[in-house]
Amino acid sequence: MKVGLLQDCCIRLTLFDIVISASAQQGEVESGTRRKIKRLLSFQRYCHASRLLRGLVPHTPGSLHLLDDDYLGQAAHMLSKVGTWNFDIFLFDRLTNGNSLVTLMCHLFNVYGLIHHFQLDMVKLHRFLGMVQEDYHSQNPYHNAVHAADVTQAMYCYLKEPKLAEQLSPLDVFLGLMAAAAHDVDHPGVNQPFLIKTRHHLASLYQNTSVLESHHWRSTVGMLRESGLLSHLPADMSQDMEQQLGSLILATDISRQNEFLLTFREHLDNQDLDLQLASHRHFILQIALKCADVCNPCRVWELSRQWSERVCEEFYRQGDLERKFDLEISPLCNQQADSVPSIQIGFISYIVEPLFEEWHRFTEPSLLSQTMMGHLHKNKARWSRLRYAHTPSDTQTHSHAEEPEPEGGGGEGEDIP
Ligand SMILES: *[C@@H]1O[C@H](CO)[C@@H](O)[C@H](O)[C@H]1NC(C)=O
Ligand SMILES: [Zn+2]
Repeated sequence: MKVGLLQDCCIRLTLFDIVISASAQQGEVESGTRRKIKRLLSFQRYCHASRLLRGLVPHTPGSLHLLDDDYLGQAAHMLSKVGTWNFDIFLFDRLTNGNSLVTLMCHLFNVYGLIHHFQLDMVKLHRFLGMVQEDYHSQNPYHNAVHAADVTQAMYCYLKEPKLAEQLSPLDVFLGLMAAAAHDVDHPGVNQPFLIKTRHHLASLYQNTSVLESHHWRSTVGMLRESGLLSHLPADMSQDMEQQLGSLILATDISRQNEFLLTFREHLDNQDLDLQLASHRHFILQIALKCADVCNPCRVWELSRQWSERVCEEFYRQGDLERKFDLEISPLCNQQADSVPSIQIGFISYIVEPLFEEWHRFTEPSLLSQTMMGHLHKNKARWSRLRYAHTPSDTQTHSHAEEPEPEGGGGEGEDIP
C-alpha cells in the first residue's frame, strides 16, 4: 500500500501547494505548520527531480519543461535567463531541490549541442554529473555544489563574451564547463595549510603543492573513467581532455595567482594573444575559470553578501577546529579578529580587483565587464562602510586606527573582551 499512499500524498500536496502559496503571502499559516508542509513539498520535488536525474522520465534534449511541476517549471523559466549576470543560483538550487549543478550542466550541454558533437551517452552523462554533484560536501557553507553551479554559470557568461564566443571550439566549451563544474569537487572545507599541518594523506600524496586542486582534478578523472563518459572516444583524445581539465582546475590554485596575472598582463600589454591558437585559448580559459571562481564580489550585492558570509563561515569553522586542537589559527579564520567586511576588503583588493582589471581590458571592455566592475566597486565601498560601523566602538575610546589589533593575545580559553 506504500505506493498508493505516496500517490495520494503527492496529489494532495499539489492542492496544498496552491493553499500554501496563497496563505503564505498573507502570513496566515502558523510557521511550524508551514515548515512541515514545505518539507513535504520538497519531497514531492525530490520525486520529480530524482526521476529526471535517474533518467526514468523519458528524456529528450531540454525536456525540463515537460514536467508540469511548479518548481521545475520555475526552474525551467530561470534557465531561459541563465546567461544573465544577476541569475540567482540560490533560488535555482532551491527550485531544483539541490540539483542546480546537474540541471545547469545538462541545460548548457544542450544549448551548445555538446551531447551531439561528442556523441555523449545521456545515461553516462547523468551518472557522471550526479557523481560530481554528490561528491561536493553539502555541509560546507561555501565549497559545496552550489558554488560549483555558480562558477559554472559565471563561466558560461564569460564563454559568451563577444571577444571569445566565436573563437571557441566545442572542445574548449566542453572543457571550460566541465572544469567549472568539477573544480572544487570533494573539497573538505579546510585549506591547504590545514591539510599540511594536520598531516592529511592528501598533503603527502601531492607533496604539499596544489594539494586540493590536484585532488579535485584526480577525483574528476576518476569519475570520468568510472562513468565511462569518454570511453567511446579515441584514447589519445580522452587523455588530452583529462590533461587539459587538470591544467584548468590547477589554475584555480590561488597561490599561483601572480604567475597567471603577470602572464595575462604581459599578453595584454604586447597585444599578442591570438585566439586562433589552441594554446592561447587554453590560457584564456584558465583565466576565465579563475575569474569565475572569485567573481562573488562582482555580483549584485544581495548575492555577493550571501557568498561572503558563507566563505567567512567556512573560515571560522576551520579556525574553531584549530583552536579546539591547539593548532595555530590560520589567517582570516579567527572569528574574533577577522570580521566579514575586513576579509572581503582584503580579498577584493588583493585578488579580485587586480584580476578583473585585466579581464576588463581583455574584453575591451564588454557590457558584462562594465557591470561587474560597477558591482565590484559598489560592494567594496559597502564593505568599507560596514567595517567602519563594526569597529568595536563599544570598547570605548579608540583613536581611529583602521584595524584595531586584537588585545593581549596568547590568552588561554575564553577570555573577556
Ligand atoms: C610537507 O610539509 C610538512 C610540514 O611542513 C613536512 O613535514 C613534509 O616533509 C612536507 N612534505 C613534502 C613532500 O615536502
Ligand atoms: Zn572554487
